[in-house]
Amino acid sequence: MTQVKRAVRFALARAARMPGMQRPAFAAFARLFPDQPWQATHPFDRGLGTDTGGFVPQWLLQPGVTEADQGSPYAGCQPECVRAALASLPDTRNYSFIDLGCGKGRAMIVASEYSFHAILGVELSGGLVAVAARNAALVARAHPERTRLQPMQGDAAGVALPDGPLVIFNYHAFPRALVGRIAERLAAAASPGREIFYVYENPVCHYVLDALPGFTRWFAAKVACTDEERGRSPGDEDTVVVWRAGGPPRTAHDGADAGLRETVPGWGVELHPGLASGAGIPTSIG
Ligand SMILES: C[S@@+](CC[C@H](N)C(=O)[O-])C[C@H]1O[C@@H](n2cnc3c(N)ncnc32)[C@H](O)[C@@H]1O
Repeated sequence: MTQVKRAVRFALARAARMPGMQRPAFAAFARLFPDQPWQATHPFDRGLGTDTGGFVPQWLLQPGVTEADQGSPYAGCQPECVRAALASLPDTRNYSFIDLGCGKGRAMIVASEYSFHAILGVELSGGLVAVAARNAALVARAHPERTRLQPMQGDAAGVALPDGPLVIFNYHAFPRALVGRIAERLAAAASPGREIFYVYENPVCHYVLDALPGFTRWFAAKVACTDEERGRSPGDEDTVVVWRAGGPPRTAHDGADAGLRETVPGWGVELHPGLASGAGIPTSIG
């Protein structure tokens, strides 16, 4: 890293720690990369006037946190991937949807296209929650018939779970240890009368859920984004896997048990139907 880059990074990270300065710091970071395709308005936002695009690195979101403890940077989910997973679920009108690491709220907005009892999001970064709250107001104005979006600032590790059945969403937001803690908590909260689905886009820590008694695979797919969304995300397709715990007996979708293989160590996985479930565990994991 050149000295100039290091100085800019230091100045932005410092600004992001000051009250009310996270959003200006994000905007300044985006201006440094005007040609980056992720920074352009995402097609998803054009109709609603929302802002769910762009990329915010970890060092701006959580300045001062060591890399081992950090969650993922901000990048919005691939809407088609979330839609494919939500369309695989049974009737969810009594379920609460919770996006753990909701960022600017793109997955919450996709969830509002479906019937949910409540749609919640929890996000560490106050700057991103402020953007998500503005997006929520725009969606409510354009679609008063949809379930209200409720983003809040907090740590996903300790979020209060609403009563009743749940659909948890996670777009590779956390390191392995945190995925484990959250999944264990959810498995303990599930019961025959309380079904919990765990929708995981880019399921880098899939092996944690596969190994946890109580969770079983429900759905798995590799989903392409739409033509107009090409070049606006890390890839033009993404893998999504859904697990379930508790609830009534149900038959999983064909192919739900497919294996996954790592594409970028610690950062990306893709569905690989040729592999059996349980294959694709990184060799570095004991
Ligand atoms: C890949 S983005 C996902 C954005 C959003 N879920 C979506 O799909 O559009 C991951 C987000 O998780 C957030 N995050 C990371 N660790 C977190 C934690 N412990 N609690 C809450 N949010 C966290 C990051 O700040 C980042 O905004």
